[in-house]
Amino acid sequence: MKNYPNVFIFNHPLIKHKVSILRDKNTGMKEFRELVEEITTIMTYESMADVELVPVEVETPLEKTMQLRVPEESVAIVPILRAGLGMVNGVHRVFPTARVGHIGMYRDEETLEPQEYYCKLPDGIEHKTVLLVDPMLATGGSACDALSALKKRGCKKIKFMCIIAAPEGIAAVAEAHPDVSVYVSTLDRCLNEHGYILPGLGDAGDRLYGTK
Ligand code: PRP
Ligand code: URA
Repeated sequence: MKNYPNVFIFNHPLIKHKVSILRDKNTGMKEFRELVEEITTIMTYESMADVELVPVEVETPLEKTMQLRVPEESVAIVPILRAGLGMVNGVHRVFPTARVGHIGMYRDEETLEPQEYYCKLPDGIEHKTVLLVDPMLATGGSACDALSALKKRGCKKIKFMCIIAAPEGIAAVAEAHPDVSVYVSTLDRCLNEHGYILPGLGDAGDRLYGTK
């Protein structure tokens, strides 16, 4: 795969360990959901390493000191429904006050084209760092459309985080949105003829919510 300056692929041993369990077809819904959250939390530390900090005065039991904090309202999480919802708690562990917007997308099973069916974003999102989340990046259609939807509503600083990506999806997002930083926990081999990632983990939404 081509090297894209806006794409960061994790190489963390803990993520490798957790993703190996996530992929296993015998991993049940509860453990799957917990692993998605845990992997997301680890990724959030890395992907937000450049988060904006502001000075604040803090009084310790001994003296006053100037410290740095993340401004409360500066980060928004936007999951792509449904599967992206599974990552929200993982980001909230790190940014508990982040507002949450939702973008609903489903892939037409025949054409694999994404269809937007819902979009509700927090007021003032255009001034926040937006963390778009979806565990799967396959053809890249859903992520590309969600990123365009966020930009249409004025968002300027956007990061996209996914757990498993196919090279095809990475190329699509990196080329259509070179201004967006893309964080991928694990790069997989390719897509099959139905647009599923190989080796992948199957349908993330179904495994998170037990719908199949
Ligand atoms: C999955 C996944 C992504 C999309 C990735 O969602 O969560 O949103 O497919 O595929 P793409 O890169 O080819 O667009 P799906 O459409 O299955 O909907 P769901 O989350 O409701 O299960
Ligand atoms: N969506 C999924 O949930 N899994 C895939 O492998 C591809 C798209």
